[in-house]
Amino acid sequence: MSGIMGYVGHRAALPVLLEGLKRLEYRGYDSVGVGVIEAGALHIQKTIGTVQRLERQLRGLDLRSTVGIGHTRWATHGQPTLENAHPHASGRIAIVHNGIIANYLELRQELIAEGVRFASDTDSEVIAALIDRAYRGDLAAAVLAALPRLSGTYALGVICRDEPNVLLCARQAVPLVVGLGVREAFLASDVTPFAPYTQNCFFLDDGEVGILSGGGVQILDLRGQVVPKEIEHITWNPVLAEKGGYRFYMLKEIFETPQAVRETLRGRLLPGAPFVHWAERGPEADLLRTCRKVILLGCGSSYHAALIGKLYLEEIAGLATEVELGSEFRYRTPLVDRRTIVIGISQSGETADTLAGMRAARASGATIYALTNAPLSTAAREADGVLRLHAGPEISVASTKTFVAELAVLCMLALHAAHLRRRQPEAHLRELAAALGTAPAAIEAALAVEEEVEALARRYSRFDHYIVLGRGVHYPVALEAALKIKELSYVHAEGCAAGEVKQGLIALVDERVPVLVLAPQGRVYEKTLDNLEEVKARGARIVAIGTQGDVELRARAHDLLELPRLPELLSPLCSSPLVHLFAYHLALRRRRDVDHPRNLAKSVTVE
Ligand code: G6P
Repeated sequence: MSGIMGYVGHRAALPVLLEGLKRLEYRGYDSVGVGVIEAGALHIQKTIGTVQRLERQLRGLDLRSTVGIGHTRWATHGQPTLENAHPHASGRIAIVHNGIIANYLELRQELIAEGVRFASDTDSEVIAALIDRAYRGDLAAAVLAALPRLSGTYALGVICRDEPNVLLCARQAVPLVVGLGVREAFLASDVTPFAPYTQNCFFLDDGEVGILSGGGVQILDLRGQVVPKEIEHITWNPVLAEKGGYRFYMLKEIFETPQAVRETLRGRLLPGAPFVHWAERGPEADLLRTCRKVILLGCGSSYHAALIGKLYLEEIAGLATEVELGSEFRYRTPLVDRRTIVIGISQSGETADTLAGMRAARASGATIYALTNAPLSTAAREADGVLRLHAGPEISVASTKTFVAELAVLCMLALHAAHLRRRQPEAHLRELAAALGTAPAAIEAALAVEEEVEALARRYSRFDHYIVLGRGVHYPVALEAALKIKELSYVHAEGCAAGEVKQGLIALVDERVPVLVLAPQGRVYEKTLDNLEEVKARGARIVAIGTQGDVELRARAHDLLELPRLPELLSPLCSSPLVHLFAYHLALRRRRDVDHPRNLAKSVTVE
């Protein structure tokens, strides 16, 4: 899994590639590299680590090539070493690859027997060798000859020393977009790298090959026949993705949560019945009225959002809802029919396991929706309907504002379904809709305590284990908090249903393990307080997150962060940004690279 980029046209390729790769770092940052053609020779530069590092390495070099490819890597086959960094070259050919070549060992043996020497352990290098060996003066013909030999998945960018005005690309099961400018063309794993240059693009489909040059773009199928494509337009503003004075994207994005929720609700949440107006291809009223079951699919934070979504759909709309991890669901037999709605929740719309789960459900006859922040993503394009987040671009690897915006959409969906299914007195739904409308302001108020959060993080940053407890709707928030602490600080953290802690986890509790307790007032409040006492009695220091003015909780906890008052079901919209902020400050104290936690990637496009 990785990000790839390519450029051909009238500009110097290198600055375009480097800027573009920065926008693709969310797909991995184990190593980075670029390849251009200078004075009739391939010129490849790579480094371990980030694009900034490569930029420093390239400073002072006068490279003017107007064609080039670039790659930022998340290692699958082969360690994250310099040799394994892309581009890979063989003879006159250089390639960048995202995906996995399943039969590479067999191809490698065959090529070694023919005298090819390999410089890396990657599966990708065989692609360069195959194309080079097939080359007879026509790059497109060589690529078309080599591709049928590959089994597996790929998004490819290819350049050839002998054809400095052309860039080839190909796709099999891995996203690839071509951008069309004036006398220039781009290719990339998503639209963000070329969005500053052109709004016109099209998405390659499986089995398609693109021939890009300053004169235009031609798309062929694997037999070499021209495929007509429809141009799509990017409406998204790439400037929004800049850091805007914040030290890390993550902090900026946490503080954008109120705005993300506001935009996501805007024009959709209505004060009275039917409570929600979906401008997009939203869920069909008939299906919502008659469906038997909903399955929410997701990975990482989106899975946690699904766990909260289940409570919304069940409690508000009385709709039986199951929650599944994409990576598990995809290998089971989905028990679905056309009256089952399956919603793939994925901010990026590209997470491989979520996509595979959606496809498996579709093949078994379910109706599929994508809940995503990326309207041009694979999930959005493949689904029967799309529930959009309007959260703006999220760059930091750890999801924050999009997680909360996902909750807002799931709540709207529940309100809408409740109205259609006549599950609740209208007055109750009206109250809930009104409270949801106040959520952005409540989140703003919750985030106003940043200094307190920072001070707490300072006091609690020296521990190696953390436990986070919550019940009911707060339990998924506990999982979310623990995930963020682990992935950002590289320490052990465990989220647990507060009532379950006595079944095992309590054995870990002592004064060296602080316990974060989510205890806003509501149905499970009293029970949560009992669980708080159980761990406190074993010596744990307690950091509680509770409702503003809760003197009882203040008396029981060692430290308290207060949340504005919201109905209990909605309180995760406020508590989540606060735990995100706490995890951010913990990681900062430990001097971690918050936006780029080690071994992770924002969008996991491999299994
Ligand atoms: C990665 C990210 C998480 C994210 C998950 C799912 O693991 O680090 O922050 O929640 O992918 O991403 P998605 O785009 O499908 O919501």
